[in-house]
Amino acid sequence: MLPSDTWHCPCTRYDAMEINLTVDGTPRESKPDERLIELINRIGLKVPQVCYHPQLGPIQTCDTCMVEVDGKLVRACATHVAPGMNVSTISARAVAAQREAFDRILGNHMLYCTVCDNNNGNCTVHNTTKLMAVEHQKIPFETKPYEVDNSNPFYRYDPDQCILCGRCVEACQNVEVNETLSIRWEDPHPRVLWDGGKPIGESSCVSCGHCVTVCPCNALMEKSMVGKAGFLTALPKTALAGMIDIVKGVEPDTGYGAILKVSEAESAMRESRIRRTKTVCTYCGVGCSFDVWTKDRQILKVEPMEGPTNGISTCIKGKFGWDFVNSSDRLTKPLIREGGKFREASWDEALGLVARRLAEIKARSGPDSLAFISSSKCTNEESYLMQKLARAVIGTNNMDNCSRYCQAPATMGLFRTVGYGGDSGSIKDIENASLVIIIGSNTAEAHPVLATRVKRAHKLRGQKLIVSDLRKHEMAERADLFLHPKPGTDLVWISAITGYILDNGLAKTSFLEKWVTGLEQYKKSLEPFTMEFAAETCGLPIETLKKVARMITEAEGVCVLWAMGVTQHSMGSDTSTAISNLLLVTGNYMRTGTGAYPLRGHNNVQGASDHGAMPNYLPGYQLVDDPEVRARFEAGWQVKLPSTKGLDNKEMIDAIHQGKLKAMYLFGEEISLVDSNKNLVDEGLSKLDFFVVQDIFFSDTCRFADVILPASPSLEKEGTFTSTERRIQRLYEVFEPLEGSRPDWRIIQEIANRLGANWNFKHPSEIYAEIASLTPLFAGVTYERLEGYKSLQWPVAADGTDQPLLYEKQFNFPDGKARLFPLTYSEPSDRVNDEFDLHLNNGRLLEHFHEGNMTYRSAGIREQTPDTFVEVSPELATERRIKTGAWVQLVSRYGQVRVRALVTDRVQGKELYMPMNSSESPVNRLTGSFTDKVTHTPAYKEASVRMLVLGENGESPLPRGNPRFGHRTPQRGVEVERKWKRPEYRVPGSPMLFHATKTKANGGNGT
Ligand code: SF4
Ligand code: SF4
Ligand code: SF4
Ligand code: FES
Repeated sequence: MLPSDTWHCPCTRYDAMEINLTVDGTPRESKPDERLIELINRIGLKVPQVCYHPQLGPIQTCDTCMVEVDGKLVRACATHVAPGMNVSTISARAVAAQREAFDRILGNHMLYCTVCDNNNGNCTVHNTTKLMAVEHQKIPFETKPYEVDNSNPFYRYDPDQCILCGRCVEACQNVEVNETLSIRWEDPHPRVLWDGGKPIGESSCVSCGHCVTVCPCNALMEKSMVGKAGFLTALPKTALAGMIDIVKGVEPDTGYGAILKVSEAESAMRESRIRRTKTVCTYCGVGCSFDVWTKDRQILKVEPMEGPTNGISTCIKGKFGWDFVNSSDRLTKPLIREGGKFREASWDEALGLVARRLAEIKARSGPDSLAFISSSKCTNEESYLMQKLARAVIGTNNMDNCSRYCQAPATMGLFRTVGYGGDSGSIKDIENASLVIIIGSNTAEAHPVLATRVKRAHKLRGQKLIVSDLRKHEMAERADLFLHPKPGTDLVWISAITGYILDNGLAKTSFLEKWVTGLEQYKKSLEPFTMEFAAETCGLPIETLKKVARMITEAEGVCVLWAMGVTQHSMGSDTSTAISNLLLVTGNYMRTGTGAYPLRGHNNVQGASDHGAMPNYLPGYQLVDDPEVRARFEAGWQVKLPSTKGLDNKEMIDAIHQGKLKAMYLFGEEISLVDSNKNLVDEGLSKLDFFVVQDIFFSDTCRFADVILPASPSLEKEGTFTSTERRIQRLYEVFEPLEGSRPDWRIIQEIANRLGANWNFKHPSEIYAEIASLTPLFAGVTYERLEGYKSLQWPVAADGTDQPLLYEKQFNFPDGKARLFPLTYSEPSDRVNDEFDLHLNNGRLLEHFHEGNMTYRSAGIREQTPDTFVEVSPELATERRIKTGAWVQLVSRYGQVRVRALVTDRVQGKELYMPMNSSESPVNRLTGSFTDKVTHTPAYKEASVRMLVLGENGESPLPRGNPRFGHRTPQRGVEVERKWKRPEYRVPGSPMLFHATKTKANGGNGT
């Protein structure tokens, strides 16, 4: 038996006690539950550890970390410290075992570092060869009988270079939890397998890149690196093979030492031309951060490692979706409309025209005839400047951002009940919950990295999962309980369950008494929400509802995650409120593993609202009609400020139609495609007297502009983004702005100054200093405190203390107590009838972000997901006699689109689903103008259509290479015990054959 087992008992707790032990003759103190490898690394000893990765835990496949403990060889990565241990990392036996293990690895890997694109100072195999001073290989390298797999657009697998460490399998199975990878240890020549043995491009691989990121060598590599990173690696294949032969040829005489010196000199040269710059993802609101490796303007790769939210995780977009930055159709010249056409103009002319026209319209029709729309793709500093331009320079509160289209109802629900409009904890809290409830969120596709944390906790930690949705998407498939309520009825079942919990004495009364007001009035409002009413209205069995109630009340901690399946309804604010009410009644706030998590859509939709891009709030949710607040901003900005709430996005479009709104300045927002009832919006935009659009591409919205200003994307500027968990993070400039384009903050400042402001911000840090000085919520935010990968979760006190758990000491109301908010139910808008007999749902796809302005410019993404489609249930397909690929016309009360059908059991009966990634057939031609009554968020999810079958059959809208056609191969991880059962396997340093007879999830090796 390998004694690592003897040293770790999972039920042993050393609590606060320090562990005293000896390592290499020196007394050491260790933390309880620390692994030997962690202790060894913490104190800076050099022990090889090829398969160990701190974020993956012990995999135990490489055996290179062998150390001697009290005379027995153990794997340091799988062994926990214990009092009195005597550890030797340098005994002759330990070193011999380490060496033997590494020799086996080199038998699987050809060292040709000088001509390898992975020779960048961080190759584990290279560094271990050096650490162990390996001169000659005892076990000769043998090729494996497999070809390189190039079938994925973004990365390739070279089985010959694969050392079978299994890091990739562990990452895919247990971090990403896509469960594509495995190693069949029983094969004569094991290799990594996709879906048990399919080409990568025909597997369930979602191209998240986890496996590539953690691979310790060049077996898995981003295609964007291959032939690009090294000085000698771009050689033609034959020349490269010749060079590899030369390297191998000199090895017997020179040994690896000399060869490594050459390769290290080459690697050092690479440092002069490869830059690694930290940025924050520009796509969804999860807030992944990573280093971007660049050579001139080429992106070599994205390397996630230390992000406080994501660690090694990314999704396809964050890892591989950056081609748009260097796309040949980037806007690089301002454009001015003249005679119905656009002509190029100088910056001076374009900015002069913008300032002149805005001033003229203000003088003629008043400041409220102008409106401003900020971008939730751009930085906090840019949203701050835009609202300052609107308020302080123009004098209007007509200011909004796209949170109006998605998140405003969730924010309202939280403002009403707990006081802040943000997630009540961190993604870590979601991981820690014993029950997660997901309502109206396709989390695995819309917030992929956040979803991995739920999938992991569910798979490995026994976390329970309830999903309520119209579609059986991945999270629904994984759920312990999947609810499919009738469209637009979530408020009813949530309220009925809350009432049932109260009526049956299952509420957390101690929490309610101490922390919550309004119980009696709220209880009264619940009277209509009986279980019977809910069963009838939602189409859910009473037993199921009772089961949900039981699961909630029996859980130690509950987190509810919700997104646009809740908010984009006519009852969006009220349903969000109902969720928060339920959490209050069950005491699921103020602790880790509990709380409310509206999942913010865009990378900075939280930040845009936080920083004042709203019609009723100055930065930090300070009301525009609060005289004290205004006085502070007036003193800071030296202007008089407007005091009444401005127009929101929806009201702006209405005001254009009414002839009240004459001019609009919008940046980084595709209003023409993403607002509902596209036809009405387009008509409105075309009526504006003057319309300025600032963007990186000629968007659909640009068609209506009078002046178009070329801006820079996130990789070309500095600033901060705020993610869904209220986390503020810095992004650094990866590239200089593409010639001709400018960062948005510079453009806004220039326009403000031409309108008479005297702003002089030289760097976004100076803008943030002003924000912090005027906004208590961000009082302690400074660029120094956000240096590198550091981050802060608001509110941030002046001394820099932040609040990962939002409600620790009180709720955000003057009395510190939360408020139960009474609700009523009304039926959804735009309901199905005989003429429009199908319900149309819509949303995102994993591969594309929204309409796809950025993601369609990635060739790999386009290859896998070339077009939009409509999902049709098998029942409906049979009834209407259509197959996947059939062209259909969807006709709503507002417009029509032509799309191909995809027959899938993700949808049921007469419910359709259409992803929003299309500018030719945008789903918002079909959606109407109904809104959430409180926030005016369009009820996008309440649309009914009829479907005309056009009688033409095309190809499937999703090619075979799309991962949706793959078949996952779930297993508990790399399953190293199966390797240990191979007849030839023996523990390094041990003369005996090794037979695994038992395992433990936390590192047992068996005997
Ligand atoms: S899903 Fe694909 S890219 Fe992601 S870890 Fe698994 S195999 Fe790798
Ligand atoms: S491909 Fe996987 S198993 Fe092979 S070396 Fe890379 S991480 Fe290890
Ligand atoms: S899109 Fe979202 S989940 Fe994907 S890498 Fe970016 S922030 Fe992370
Ligand atoms: S590091 Fe590979 S077995 Fe411990």
